[in-house]
Amino acid sequence: MCGIVGAISERNVVPMLLAGLQRLEYRGYDSSGLALAQRGEFSRVRVAGRVADLAAKAAGQSALAGLAHTRWATHGAPTELNAHPHLGGDSVLIVHNGIIENHAALRTELLAQGYQFTSETDSEVIAHLVHHYLERSNDLLSAVQATIGRLTGAFAIGVLSRDYPDTIICARRGSPLVLGLGFGEQFFASDIAALLPVTQRMIYLEEGDLAELHRGEVRIFNAAGEPVTRQARTVDVAADSADLGHYRHYMQKEIFEQPVAITNTLQRVIELGCQPALFGPTAEALFVAAPAIRIVACGSSYHAGLVARYWIEEWTGLPVSVDIASEYRYRKGREQDGTLIVAISQSGETADLLAAMRSARERGDVKVLAICNVPHSTLTRESDLLFLTQAGLEIGVASTKAFTTQLVALYVLAAALASSRKTLSAAAEREISESLHRLPVLVEEVLAMDGQLEEWAQELAHYHNALFLGRHTLFPIALEGALKLKEIAYIHAEGYAAGELKHGPLALVDEDMPVIVCAARDELLEKLVSNMREVEARSGKVFLLAEPGCESAHPGAHRVLTLPAASGPLAPVVMTLPLQMLSYHTACRKGTDVDKPRNLAKSVTVE
Ligand code: F6R
Repeated sequence: MCGIVGAISERNVVPMLLAGLQRLEYRGYDSSGLALAQRGEFSRVRVAGRVADLAAKAAGQSALAGLAHTRWATHGAPTELNAHPHLGGDSVLIVHNGIIENHAALRTELLAQGYQFTSETDSEVIAHLVHHYLERSNDLLSAVQATIGRLTGAFAIGVLSRDYPDTIICARRGSPLVLGLGFGEQFFASDIAALLPVTQRMIYLEEGDLAELHRGEVRIFNAAGEPVTRQARTVDVAADSADLGHYRHYMQKEIFEQPVAITNTLQRVIELGCQPALFGPTAEALFVAAPAIRIVACGSSYHAGLVARYWIEEWTGLPVSVDIASEYRYRKGREQDGTLIVAISQSGETADLLAAMRSARERGDVKVLAICNVPHSTLTRESDLLFLTQAGLEIGVASTKAFTTQLVALYVLAAALASSRKTLSAAAEREISESLHRLPVLVEEVLAMDGQLEEWAQELAHYHNALFLGRHTLFPIALEGALKLKEIAYIHAEGYAAGELKHGPLALVDEDMPVIVCAARDELLEKLVSNMREVEARSGKVFLLAEPGCESAHPGAHRVLTLPAASGPLAPVVMTLPLQMLSYHTACRKGTDVDKPRNLAKSVTVE
């Protein structure tokens, strides 16, 4: 994973590098560093800590060219010695995002040549290789090109040399990299977010590209080393405010932003209705022709896909399969021609998801529909059809508003598929569309229950394990509830389809096992009530989140929270909120780092 930034300017680049790095901390935050060059001075600053610690250590530093790195450790612990930038010989500094698969062989070779390694990282070989080739060629560009030719694996790199203080070089293969164009200054970064405070003119580098940045110009070369022109575009994205306001954590702020995020996501839907045109001009024809739907995603986005399967199957009759992207990419089956691949991702940069999408294209004549929150991300650029969720910048590592807006987008997709294929009556279509109008208000009402969930959390924080149960569309929401609790409160939790309980997990239930049950007012309620009785008969404590009208489910429940209203097929969206608040307050109670949970990163750009 990791995030990288580079800048060359006529002004001090250190504040810009630090601000850019802060915006990339979602990619990793266990150590960070700067490479700085100006008028004969060449230095690096590194900390085994976050960007705020780096900023403190770099106070008073200035440079006219520099590189910056925030790390998510893959090779070697998050120590200062393993932090980037890495030094090659005595004159080259590099930053790297990705994994160098042949690093062991290269390390052996470089050791034999007398290079000394000071870190356990795979990245340090890049620094020494550039130094090695630079010694021979006295040309930074060709030294970096020669280095890249030796690397296998995925990388986005930035290179700075003591002897070439008016140049920085960056290159990508398999990891994202964007250039930012200024006047008398140029930049690069893993993501446009890092550059938005300084420029909106961007060039997305293509696979295998290398760029040489000088203050007054950039030169780009393709994978074959030929000079190429890549289109510069003005990115119409606001540099979203990262202001916490009166909230204690970004996750809390983002939970409470959900009514607005959902309203924004629905803006065009309210104007047009659930129409295929929302997904692109060719969507209608592709929706009509699709023989099947394959959904691929990771983590919370995968849970959103699991919910969508119920909606699409019920409203269109189409066969739908949902796959974890990291598994799908290594499966071998063919895809039926015309299959619609629905790729769901908040970031649009998740490595396994991109690989799954590319693999699907090799298995048949398929079309890819992306549901994504980040415009211009790799996923959006490589897809045939697109629906952009409008969650806005999500800083907390745990997906909250990104997840619920994905659900909304998938609901619209299911309705648009049904509309194209004429599988629902006009009245049913209208009802589905109109149900969306009430959603932001329903969500607002559930947010008002925050205080009660804080009380539940005081109790939940004492347990070491928890089970989450649901049925039908609330089964994936049980999975999502368990994931949230694990990820930010560090409590072991599992989600189950309630009907599975007696096929194994019931053995775990005793007085130390809280069981959080999500109950909708639907035809499976009575079966869910039986499952709760089975839990209570084993002294398990039921924490029941119920839609009104689920009264028969109450009798023995340890705690009950009745939601303000039933929400029909939108129940999975509404039920997600109390689970988010429950995890959030439990994590606060336990004192964990809510926005940056240990060992995680927001965007998983390595396999
Ligand atoms: C959990 C969470 C992750 C992401 C997953 C996929 O709260 O945020 O499970 O959902 O890493 O990320 P995207 O959606 O960016 O592909």
